[in-house]
Amino acid sequence: MNLSKKMRDALNQQMTFELESAYAYMAMSAWFKTENLDGLAAFMATHAQEEVEHAMKFYDFLYERLSSAEFGAIGKPKGSFKNPLEVIETAFEHEQKVTRAIHQLVDLARAENDKASENFLQWFVEEQVEEESVIDNLLQRLKLVGDFKPGLFFLDRELAAEGGEH
Ligand code: FEO
Repeated sequence: MNLSKKMRDALNQQMTFELESAYAYMAMSAWFKTENLDGLAAFMATHAQEEVEHAMKFYDFLYERLSSAEFGAIGKPKGSFKNPLEVIETAFEHEQKVTRAIHQLVDLARAENDKASENFLQWFVEEQVEEESVIDNLLQRLKLVGDFKPGLFFLDRELAAEGGEH
C-alpha cells in the first residue's frame, strides 16, 4: 500500500520538525556551554543527537514505504535565556509540542486506515512519554535548586558525570 500524498507530506514535516528539535537543543547546549555548565550542555547535546536519530527513523520509513524524503526549512533557534530554568522550561514545552504532532500523525494514519504508519508511529508515542518524563525530572530538580548556586553546581557536576546520558 503506497503512502498517500497527505501522509507523505506529514511524515516529511515531522522529520523536519525532529531536525528542528535537534537544532533548538544544540542552541540550548551552546548556551549552557557559554555559562560553563558543562553537564547541562552535555545533557542537551545528547538530547539533540536523539532528535537526529528520530528524524532518521522517519527518513528510513519514508523509503521503506517506497516514498522519498523532502527536507523543509528550519528557522533560527532561540539562543539566549534568562537562566537554566528557562532553558529547560522551553525544552519541556517543545517536547509537549512534539507529542501533540505525533498524536496528530497517529490520527491521520487512523483516518487513512494506514496500519503500517500507525504501527511505526507507536514507537514515537511511547518515546514521547519518556522524553517528557526525562525533561520534567530535570525541570523539577532545577526548581528545587532555585537560586542556590552551589545546588546548580552540584546538579551540573552530577549530569557531567553521567556524560549527558539519560
Ligand atoms: Fe523527537 Fe524529543 O522528540
